[in-house]
Amino acid sequence: MTFFTAWWRLTLGILIVAVTAHATVQDASDHSLRTTKSATTGSAWGPYRPNLYFGVRPQLPETLLFGLMWASGDSRDALRDTCEQDDGMQGYGWTSYDPRAGGSQTIHDAALRVDLKVDFYKSQDGLSWTARVTGTPRAGAPADLKTAVVFHAAMERAESPTSERSLRCVRHLRHRDDIRCMALLPELDPVGLYITRGTDNKVVEGPSVMSLNVTEDQIWQAKDHMVDLMDGHSSAAFSTRVDAVFPRAAPFEDQKYAGLTQSLLANLLGGMGYFHGDQLIDYSHAPEYEETDLGFWEKAADAMAHAPVTIKPNVSLLSFVPSRPFFPRGFLWDEGFHLLPVIEWDLTLAVEVLKSWLSLMDDDGWIAREQILGPEARSKVPIEFQTQYPHHANPPTLLMLVSVIISKLAHATPYNGDSSDSITSAEKGQALVKEIFPLLSRHHDWFRRTQAGNFTAYPRPSGANAEGYRWRGRNPGHCLGSGLDDYPRAEPPHPGELHVDALAWVGASAKALQQAAEYIGEDSSICKEQLQAVRQNLDTLHWDPATETYCDATIGHDGKYKHVCHTGYVSLMPLLLGHLDESHPHLPAVLDTLSNPAKLWSPHGLRSLSAQDDNYGKDEDYWRGAVWMNINVLAVLGLRNLGNSTAAGARAQSLAAHLRKRLVDTVYDSWDQTGFAWEQYSDTTGKGQRSRAFTGWTAAVLLLMGLEDAAVTFPDPLEGSTTHSSGWTAPTIGFVGLLVLLVLLRHRIMGLCSRVAIVWRQSRSHRYHQGDEGRALNEAIDLDDLYESDSNTADT
Ligand SMILES: *[C@@H]1O[C@H](CO)[C@@H](O)[C@H](O)[C@H]1NC(C)=O
Ligand SMILES: *[C@@H]1O[C@H](CO)[C@@H](O)[C@H](O)[C@H]1NC(C)=O
Ligand SMILES: *[C@@H]1O[C@H](CO)[C@@H](O)[C@H](O)[C@H]1NC(C)=O
Ligand SMILES: *[C@@H]1O[C@H](CO)[C@@H](O)[C@H](O)[C@H]1NC(C)=O
Repeated sequence: MTFFTAWWRLTLGILIVAVTAHATVQDASDHSLRTTKSATTGSAWGPYRPNLYFGVRPQLPETLLFGLMWASGDSRDALRDTCEQDDGMQGYGWTSYDPRAGGSQTIHDAALRVDLKVDFYKSQDGLSWTARVTGTPRAGAPADLKTAVVFHAAMERAESPTSERSLRCVRHLRHRDDIRCMALLPELDPVGLYITRGTDNKVVEGPSVMSLNVTEDQIWQAKDHMVDLMDGHSSAAFSTRVDAVFPRAAPFEDQKYAGLTQSLLANLLGGMGYFHGDQLIDYSHAPEYEETDLGFWEKAADAMAHAPVTIKPNVSLLSFVPSRPFFPRGFLWDEGFHLLPVIEWDLTLAVEVLKSWLSLMDDDGWIAREQILGPEARSKVPIEFQTQYPHHANPPTLLMLVSVIISKLAHATPYNGDSSDSITSAEKGQALVKEIFPLLSRHHDWFRRTQAGNFTAYPRPSGANAEGYRWRGRNPGHCLGSGLDDYPRAEPPHPGELHVDALAWVGASAKALQQAAEYIGEDSSICKEQLQAVRQNLDTLHWDPATETYCDATIGHDGKYKHVCHTGYVSLMPLLLGHLDESHPHLPAVLDTLSNPAKLWSPHGLRSLSAQDDNYGKDEDYWRGAVWMNINVLAVLGLRNLGNSTAAGARAQSLAAHLRKRLVDTVYDSWDQTGFAWEQYSDTTGKGQRSRAFTGWTAAVLLLMGLEDAAVTFPDPLEGSTTHSSGWTAPTIGFVGLLVLLVLLRHRIMGLCSRVAIVWRQSRSHRYHQGDEGRALNEAIDLDDLYESDSNTADT
């Protein structure tokens, strides 16, 4: 099975689904194909390819083509596609057909011993359609008759990577029998196609998805390409591929961790969405947004209440989502973490998503941190969070990807994912980095300009340079720009504040740009100087000798510069983002803080806030103690990146090994008990909490399983402690989990039925009628998916 990657020139896509038809089972094959789209007038869909047994296209030249083929599941010699005179059909044709509503066609394939019925229904407006294929073994068919059903999708005139015409199909990796396709072409609004399997089929192989690059004169010859493919194709199972791309190292060799890896990856990938729509943006650039006065947040809020909100015209975004049920949108700072595993799996896909995000950047370099595209997406976001502001930032995690991508392009780290032109061709690798470099630089410059600290009006420690930053958009209790929402900061907020994490992020992006510049042979000296200045100021502005931690800073009542120390993720950012080397004088103290069980080292990973901080567990308790996997993954990678030539460096290696084990165990245990990855984990019980099905950045832990531990010379800080027990009994959880899911199930069915009923009047789908508990759980997820698939196609 291969993923569709990018589509160039003329392309053809093929899906193979093999089903077994038992003589006793009535429906041998049952495939529902749905497209949703909105279209310009005159482009309604229909089976407008009468030369095929079943083919669908809109009334447009040079467009998207869909078609159905089938074959014997055992032999490749008879593949049905175009209607032929002599292929042994005992008749075929529409038994009912109304151009406005659709109809039903039956095909009696005597040679392949199967009768196929194709029901095709259009929505009233003609813009959506559903097809269902039902196979019935003919009299005398063998009991183990197998039929392969192939649905092909082709885009005409998809010439170049930058062309506006693209088609992508992916197998839904969690619901492995589902496939979804997205197509973009200028004449139509985005088209989504969903392929699901009837539950009464016995699948013997597949489905799988394959892509081809063919020339124009070949595009309609789907059958020939199919035969070529089938001859040379032995499709590796998903699990085999996952094992190859994400091999697991000790102590995670057990097969049960393979299940976790697959689940995390499949759900991450299954959360890829195509979003399209307009956006609410406040372009007023009100002077209050400079936030220079005391009490700036009140003045800014007041200005916001009166500012005109602009509706920015439609844009498109290809993005993964943090959580399909709860955050089915693109989030800027999450995306960097989402793409870390995706780079390993399919670099081309990861780069395409990265470029999609970069394409949203405005001329100043700003990218809205939350992509709420279109009215439907907006309807799910409270009104006060709908408008995006060009002075609000988020951690520039997309830049974090640059060094990973370059290490793949330069073959400095292994790559076992889907083949990528940029990796096989050094020229294309260079071209890729050249293409994204100016955009990344612009984003970096925008960040430095708009989040700059004030170095003119307030006292700063002697020896400081002017690299220092302050997240804009703060108010008492919150700093949403930092991504760490309620993590405690200086109170009340002050215009002279400086945030240590903001500075550490600027350093990380300066370093990424330096690497990129060096890779493409451009001048890297400016980035290099910035990086040095950042590192110097981390120590000059933010190192607090009294607490021996990196701290935020503000201006006290006495008008003096003072540190604000809330020990937690913010204090670790200089280490996590690679600014301390193994001989850095503060490294031992930072490691003390990190590994102190009374502070950050919990049995389940690093706490977001020290258990000794006054704010620990208080108020919203969002980033105030709970264990977040994105930061913990950075911690393991950051610790490992230190050399071991010093005692502190060697200690960091041991801590990385212990932390790695604790993190994977934590995610595994909750996943094993609940079937979900979670938004965050309790630092006391390890239990997953907040949003479930949060397979966004939590999925990044799958990267840890493959790391080889260095020699572990220091014990785990909690060694011998008894706190490493979850105190959490499976039956209770199972019960609670089930209750929650049943409620959801009801909700989803209602939403779904109204949608499906329009185009799918007669047929009752089998997938919603399941008995035992396990099935109920699965069904709830399925319904989420369908529901979300609908809602994610924002244009429908
Ligand atoms: C598709 O074919 C064209 C023409 O042969 C070629 O230029 C292009 O690189 C191909 N793309 C892929 C993805 O194979
Ligand atoms: C620094 O603060 C002063 C005093 O409020 C203000 O006039 C100035 O514009 C600020 N500079 C920057 C760069 O924010
Ligand atoms: C330090 O690292 C090197 C190479 O990674 C390794 O061979 C060596 O055993 C390590 N030494 C210690 C003390 O961990
Ligand atoms: C924006 O997209 C929506 C949904 O796809 C569509 O209805 C609307 O006409 C588009 N607006 C513009 C200006 O293209």
